[in-house]
Amino acid sequence: MSAQVQPVEVFDLVIFGGTGDLALRKLLPALFHRFADGQIAPGSRVIGIARDALDDGDYRERVRAALERSLTGEAHAAADINRFLELVAYRALDATRDAGWSDLSALFAGGSERVRVFYLATGADVFIPICERLRALGLTQGKVRVVIEKPIGSDLRTAAAITDAVGRSFAERQTFRIDHYLGKETVQNLLALRFGNALFEPLWRAEHIDHVQITVAETIGVERRAAYYAGAGALRDMVQNHLLQLLCMVAMEPPASLEPDAVRDEKLKVLRALRPIDAHNADQFSVRGQYRAGASENGPVPGYLEESGRGDAHTDTFVALKAEVANWRWAGVPFYLRTGKRLAQRVSEIVIAFRAIPHSIFASVAGPIAPNKLVLRLQPDEGVKLWLMIKYPGPGGLRLRRVPLDMSFAQAFGVRNSDAYERLLMDVVRGNPTLFMRRDEVEAAWQWIDPILAAWTASDDLPKAYTAGTWGPSAAVALIERDGRTWHEDED
Ligand code: BG6
Repeated sequence: MSAQVQPVEVFDLVIFGGTGDLALRKLLPALFHRFADGQIAPGSRVIGIARDALDDGDYRERVRAALERSLTGEAHAAADINRFLELVAYRALDATRDAGWSDLSALFAGGSERVRVFYLATGADVFIPICERLRALGLTQGKVRVVIEKPIGSDLRTAAAITDAVGRSFAERQTFRIDHYLGKETVQNLLALRFGNALFEPLWRAEHIDHVQITVAETIGVERRAAYYAGAGALRDMVQNHLLQLLCMVAMEPPASLEPDAVRDEKLKVLRALRPIDAHNADQFSVRGQYRAGASENGPVPGYLEESGRGDAHTDTFVALKAEVANWRWAGVPFYLRTGKRLAQRVSEIVIAFRAIPHSIFASVAGPIAPNKLVLRLQPDEGVKLWLMIKYPGPGGLRLRRVPLDMSFAQAFGVRNSDAYERLLMDVVRGNPTLFMRRDEVEAAWQWIDPILAAWTASDDLPKAYTAGTWGPSAAVALIERDGRTWHEDED
């Protein structure tokens, strides 16, 4: 079955940070795929911007090399890549200097009515000068949007300052704050499962759900991002945005429609209902860790502090939290969150653990009756498993087993797993902000995160050590096990 493709309007997309990792590894391959599938109309333009003195030809060669790296294993005609590269151009400029801006502005002379997107794939330190220039050059009016990458600030105060400054150049409806987790197939499917089936919603509440787990585990280390990461840590890098957004999608009330504000209003209510974790209870509800030397799939790896020589002993490369959404639907249901670098396996999943049956009619020889679980896996292989008790087939008495109804999307539909950026970039061009964070959401997320950071900063403790290649510090296991529960492990 092939995916249905609806072409988007002709557009100009300007990528600030055009030679950076995000642009070359994610944005340009995503655009290429949309182009190869026929979604991007001829005549559209993609303009990379960076300080390097390159011409269009040099940049196209860099993009070609990046595409070839990212498309390994996918059959793509060189002709497709060549046709895509015809859309690609480059302009050199330094966001904080005068040179180069008139060249950029000349690209838009004539003030056409095309959609124009400015993607700020740069550090937040240059968001403000870029936005101010674009406004001064008169480039912010019309069908114009700006895309801002996380991290938006490092706490509530700095996030608000960035938003205010960007807001002087772009209206809120023009501002797309991207959280690429919201573009992942399984996250979309969470909406489809919850609100496209009558089956789940009546059970989606404290009466029937024992707890929820959200895990985003990575095997990579901090690698080339040491300078950024030392100031950020996992709580700011992953929890403030990705994990909280996933939590919102699980916990929100049914929105009246998929209109952008209908969905975002519901997510905001969840963020505002999170029970605070602060100096009084941070020891009980939060665990932070930092990896020491250990092993990854490819052999021995150094610890965080040795990896780059620029690490900070206080930086959290792992976080586990026990959160609670204090409202009628969820009161008393723990949401266990964990994320970390250099963990045992790359896996991101949401586990909805249902309550145990109230009474068993089976003899003990039938075996234990494990509660149902709905597991939504975001990566590596996107899909959904619903764990159910069934009778083990054949004679030999009534023996029970928990087995999954298993649906891997790529297998079930025979389609390529598309990258989240593909969907989100097309949504920006279409001007649909449903899957982007509104200002108040970003700020509400910081409002919950700030007291956790403050509690950690005030404490004399350093993050707890864990060996690279394991599931994090033992305190993270204790966080859930002292409640009589365990982190989910796939039983296949
Ligand atoms: C980014 C974080 O937002 O998400 C990175 O800054 C992290 O530290 C990445 O590695 C994970 O994204 P994905 O899609 O590979 O799970």
